[in-house]
Amino acid sequence: MKKRHLVTAALPYANGPLHIGHLAGAYLPADVYVRYLRLMGKDVVFVCGSDEHGAAITIKARKEGTSPKQIVDQYHALLRDTFQKIGIEFDIYHRTSDPLHHETSQGFFRTLLHNGQFEEKISDQYFDEQAGVFLADRYIIGTCPTCANPDAYGDQCERCGSTLSPTELINPRSTLSGSTPVLKPTTHWYLKLNEHEAWLREWINQGTLNGVQLHNPADWKNHVIGQCNSWLDGGLQPRAMTRDLDWGVDVPAELPGAAGKKLYVWLDAPIGYISATKQWALDHNRDWEPYWKDEDTSLVHFIGKDNIVFHCLIFPAILQAHGEFILPVNVPANQFLNLEGRKLSTSRNWAVWVHEYCEELPGQEDALRYNMIKNMPEQKDSEFTWKGFQESTNSELVNNLANFVNRVLVLSHKFYSGLVPDVDLSRECRSGWDATQTTTFDADLHLLHLKLEDLGREIEHFNFREALRIFMEISGAGNALLQFNEPWKLEKEDPEKVKVVMNLSLQYVAALSVAARPFIPFAAARMRTMLNLPAFHDQGEWLDMLNELAEGNPIMRPMHALGTAEHLFTRIPDEVIAAQVAKLEATDAANNNTELSTAVATAAEPAPMKDTIQYDDFAKLDIRTGTILTAEKMEKSKKLLKLTVDLGFEQRTILSGIAEHYGPEEVIGQQVIVLANLAPRKMMGIESEGMILMADNPEGKLCFVSPITTWTNGGGVS
Ligand code: 2FM
Ligand code: ZN
Repeated sequence: MKKRHLVTAALPYANGPLHIGHLAGAYLPADVYVRYLRLMGKDVVFVCGSDEHGAAITIKARKEGTSPKQIVDQYHALLRDTFQKIGIEFDIYHRTSDPLHHETSQGFFRTLLHNGQFEEKISDQYFDEQAGVFLADRYIIGTCPTCANPDAYGDQCERCGSTLSPTELINPRSTLSGSTPVLKPTTHWYLKLNEHEAWLREWINQGTLNGVQLHNPADWKNHVIGQCNSWLDGGLQPRAMTRDLDWGVDVPAELPGAAGKKLYVWLDAPIGYISATKQWALDHNRDWEPYWKDEDTSLVHFIGKDNIVFHCLIFPAILQAHGEFILPVNVPANQFLNLEGRKLSTSRNWAVWVHEYCEELPGQEDALRYNMIKNMPEQKDSEFTWKGFQESTNSELVNNLANFVNRVLVLSHKFYSGLVPDVDLSRECRSGWDATQTTTFDADLHLLHLKLEDLGREIEHFNFREALRIFMEISGAGNALLQFNEPWKLEKEDPEKVKVVMNLSLQYVAALSVAARPFIPFAAARMRTMLNLPAFHDQGEWLDMLNELAEGNPIMRPMHALGTAEHLFTRIPDEVIAAQVAKLEATDAANNNTELSTAVATAAEPAPMKDTIQYDDFAKLDIRTGTILTAEKMEKSKKLLKLTVDLGFEQRTILSGIAEHYGPEEVIGQQVIVLANLAPRKMMGIESEGMILMADNPEGKLCFVSPITTWTNGGGVS
């Protein structure tokens, strides 16, 4: 293991509350990992913070009729408090609106520029002439070319999931003014990602950089490597690192052309990890640099799978392009958590919001953590159900763990007035691990030691579900130790044997109190009080325990005075589950009502297919791409628009029968496919020199067939 650890958890956008998908995806695995490292006495810094830039924030502000600043202030506070309530313990929860972050990001930008990592490129982007601004992808909506959803965003259609670029949208319109945006040239700084492709491929697949082994790719999750390779195989393209926006980190003002430009949110957000570390260092009078620059640091990014490309390709390229920074040793991204059979969705309110959970089920924070870890989507998508949550709480936390701890404490008070009994090392009792075997105090303690080592190893390898399973296995073995030996019956006839059973059980509880801390920290603290063991200081308690066990020493010595038994967990009653299920049903009903009207509108029968044609028929068509330059209504015609279409080599007048579907202002700037060798035809006194190709969507609306434009996986501008 490396000398120090820097652990990051994806900076959540400060435009909404935290839901259980976020928890299971990034924050809980990170928290479990960090808590374990601290208990192993490691030098670890755990950073996170709010991601306060990007179109998501400004759109939310517009929707709510407020300012971006008010939005981020409100959600930054909510996120920070929610993390704290659910026991996610960062060393710092920073924010990207902080001046230190702006300085740090701008410093990065300057260094990248100085290192020749950028090229300046002019591209055409949609501009809202009424609002006088360039439009981020999310500010443009239009009809999806794939599924005809009339409200697809410029970067994605939320109905069919297609990734889009704004110019692919049919009938694009600005969400700011409702007007049709026009394409206008703008200059941006592009990171030459293509120049980083070769080393990224080697680093992802071999774990080497310039022949030096930095990590073992066998330790990385298959789906992470797979996603990276699919991007690499598609070819990395230069990627714009600036945007025309009025909210975000300014491009350094001294640069020509900086006015009105901000850093791309996916450039500044991961740099947020660095600024957070800097702020932590300032707050604690420490040096931040070794955590980011010394090869003896293990840097691990915890994220959800939608962030893989940014953390495994783009941010590493940025770190290398800068030149002074280390690369992550692992990015153990999780897959997605579903809720009651459906994808979690913020916009459809199909979620369990963590702050609401904490209010509605107070004192049950650990129960949620436990269920999330048990069902963590480590290798594939997984599922949260309220029934499953009730089951895991009541039968595992209450019936198994809490019951064991309670029985041990109560019996110890009854038999030994709350003092840990001394034992005869030669005495045997039945093993809790195997009903057919007997064991001695030493042998059983040794087995416990091995189990704790296994558990720790699983955490070190990001196998949190398996680690939790071993934790519960220890508790189960403790219960079985009591069950098989029945000390309540044996006490009169063989008190010496009972001492072995009870002392061993107490050692199990003590071990569980430490091992519980990464998973269920609130319960772990209660267990320490019950055992009258020191509260946690996260200074190597797990390591100390392993060292004692390795020496053959018990965790709690004979005559140690125990505290009193209290409830470790309480059952989740049926009514609580029913109330939560009813809440989701209400959401579902609300969603379905709005969906119904859309469904009715889209239910029209598709037109029957025409007869099959041969290739030769098709080959006669001369099909070209063009852009509509002007459009006007034809007098006395309800159907026709008169268009001027630029084919690149000439301009044509085309009469198109689309006036019932589109107004002239909606089609200007639209890229179209033109049948260029159709015989000219006079209509209403004007000669039409070609035909625009359109297609019916399932609703019977005519849609443009758009040529694929300039967007590639590396070149999108959002
Ligand atoms: O997907 C998200 O929620 C982003 N805000 C994550 C950013 S992670 C990091 F780069 F800051
Ligand atoms: Zn679609």
